[in-house]
Amino acid sequence: MEKIMEESKQGQTLVLEQKQENTKKLFIESYGCQMNFSDSEIVASILANEGYNTTQNIEEADLVLVNTCSIRDKAEQTVRKRLDQYNNIKKINPGMKVGVLGCMAERLKSKFLEEEKIVDMVVGPDAYKDIPNLLKEVDEGRDAVNVILSKEETYGDVAPVRLNSNGVTAFVSITRGCDNMCTFCVVPFTRGRERSREPQSIMEEIQQLWDKGFKEVTLLGQNVDSYLWYGGGLKKDYDKASEMQKATAVDFAQLLDMVAGAFPKMRFRFSTSNPQDMHLEVIEVMAKHHNICKYIHLPVQSGSTRVLKEMNRQHTREEYMALVDNIYRIIPEISLSQDMIAGFPTETEEDHQDTLSLMAHCQYDFGFMFAYSERPGTLAARKLVDDIPEEVKKRRLTEIINLQRDISLERTKRFVGQTVEVLIEKESKRSNAHWSGRNSQNTTVVFEKGNYKPGDFVNVKITDCTSATLIGEAVGYSEKMN
Ligand code: SAH
Ligand code: F3S
Repeated sequence: MEKIMEESKQGQTLVLEQKQENTKKLFIESYGCQMNFSDSEIVASILANEGYNTTQNIEEADLVLVNTCSIRDKAEQTVRKRLDQYNNIKKINPGMKVGVLGCMAERLKSKFLEEEKIVDMVVGPDAYKDIPNLLKEVDEGRDAVNVILSKEETYGDVAPVRLNSNGVTAFVSITRGCDNMCTFCVVPFTRGRERSREPQSIMEEIQQLWDKGFKEVTLLGQNVDSYLWYGGGLKKDYDKASEMQKATAVDFAQLLDMVAGAFPKMRFRFSTSNPQDMHLEVIEVMAKHHNICKYIHLPVQSGSTRVLKEMNRQHTREEYMALVDNIYRIIPEISLSQDMIAGFPTETEEDHQDTLSLMAHCQYDFGFMFAYSERPGTLAARKLVDDIPEEVKKRRLTEIINLQRDISLERTKRFVGQTVEVLIEKESKRSNAHWSGRNSQNTTVVFEKGNYKPGDFVNVKITDCTSATLIGEAVGYSEKMN
């Protein structure tokens, strides 16, 4: 995640430029990770060629699509409530068709049609190109399901349209699926095996974004460090590749070096990193290029070696901390963030204390912290009892969140007095006299607008901060990025 999007974006609808010749209306909303939001742009682009313009008004929609998340039970409950609401709207607009996309579609398959009577179409994450055919089935009065996971599909040949965005920052998918089989995680079942997208098609998409004026690209994947292009095919089949394929293979460090070198005035981020696949070559490439942001989201899930083993994370507490130490050594100004799970089965107080002490050691700038939620079909659900009482999970989670808040405040304070490079994204939510953007370390910075505009790289002298936001004044354009 891959990262979970901020709460305010959950359920966001996507609106693209209207095509004159299109007569039908599509309402599409997304939940979950950045990959889902990015996939919805691909789906809307496919449907733009099938006569659909996007709308924000669900009551006039001919087709309603919801791109869903299965990562925790709560994410699924949110979508089910939304489907109830669609049901009410269907009473006003009986011609409306409803389709479920994404991880819940993949997880529940045709069960969805039985459980949720209003659903007409169920489409898994690798079947979006089949939507035009599935819609024909629906138009002929049949329910339509395609949840086949693919060995090849990367949507590298679909040009997503992103006209509803801020026009400054965009996501570009580079890998799909995940082979890691963390025991708590549903992603390997809903997103399939890991495959990488051809570097040339990634470069072309970045070029198109550059031509449209975009200034920052986040390379996306469940596990970007595992990126490996050797002419197509699954990551797990690399062993069977020819000598020639192996000799010309491109890994993540090489891809990053390539895009950062080819687009020196475009900023790059990437998400998500997995500690077991994150190698120091990637850190060296980050250190080499000014335009690669000095920020890594490096989920750890637990600070206890014993729990990490139960989770099938392929590293110990010590190995993770050594990686973090090396990262700080090579790039002292870097920001790190974590994902943490509180109350994984068998977690003791001692394990929990290990998590807190690991957090203190790693000094993360941010964190995304969750109580363990058992997911049907995962290894943990099959082999382990969800034995930590809810109130214990909650208490441990609160302790983790409180510690992260304290660390975040200290980490944010370190910028006060410094001058940082900010890419202006949009107007500040709190004040229309201020711009909002992020520095290289991914911390939000707000400052008075002056004569600057979104898309400008500006040096900002930081005068003050809250726990998550830096406040400053612009002192000129960034020479390096303009
Ligand atoms: N690919 C990423 C994580 C993807 S899922 C990685 O390398 O770790 C995003 C986050 O959701 C995970 O990092 C984990 O913290 C959380 N998560 C996943 N499954 C969960 C579950 N069953 N219960 C609680 N949190 C979970
Ligand atoms: Fe999930 Fe682990 Fe992959 S958390 S997405 S199985 S790296």
